[in-house]
Amino acid sequence: MKIFIDSAEVKELKALAQTGLVDGVTTNPTLIAKAGGDIFESLKTICAIIAGPISAEVVAQDYEGMLAEGAKLRTIAQNIAVKVPLTQDGLRACKTLSGEGHPVNVTLCFSAVQALLAAKSGATFISPFLGRLDDGGQDGMELIREIRAIYDNYGYKTQILAASIRSALHVRDAAIAGADCATIPPAVFKSLYKHHLTDAGLEAFAKDWKSTGQTII
Ligand code: E4P
Repeated sequence: MKIFIDSAEVKELKALAQTGLVDGVTTNPTLIAKAGGDIFESLKTICAIIAGPISAEVVAQDYEGMLAEGAKLRTIAQNIAVKVPLTQDGLRACKTLSGEGHPVNVTLCFSAVQALLAAKSGATFISPFLGRLDDGGQDGMELIREIRAIYDNYGYKTQILAASIRSALHVRDAAIAGADCATIPPAVFKSLYKHHLTDAGLEAFAKDWKSTGQTII
């Protein structure tokens, strides 16, 4: 499964990229606002740090506006994927952009039929929002399973990008459900390494090794 980081914090992304595990980044207007700074500067730096797709979201809600903003965002770097909302105009913009060979991430997906339309519109990525569905008392993971089944039924190549991830359990379950990618907030990404038995085991090994009085180097 590809791991994307859901953040626009340049410093944090730089540090996480050093793990060699980061395949891409997703941003949205909220994350850009939270990180502060100029959107073009931030995205340019992020695109230089991480080679994989960097999603940059349009804010226009009409077709022409989305195309104009998409064109501007794509001037930032080769690895920009334009992110459009799952609306009628968004899908139309997706169809045009993907028809021109540009990668598109269709965001704010909350149902399997929305995901079906995104695939038919040529989306490179579909972003189902797990956490927000769970927050509303629905089963976000069920949506991933439904989309997986639909895409496999018809051989759609659109990649399922599990989004609105809140925990390591979400990452595990999305992987089991067959999501192609997960976009993970930095804090959740760091929690993926952690297990108390790893920490306890490491501490015991260090103590026992010290008792031998040896060194490896
Ligand atoms: C996805 O691309 C979105 O940026 C993100 O996952 C939304 O997550 P949230 O529900 O935590 O805002």
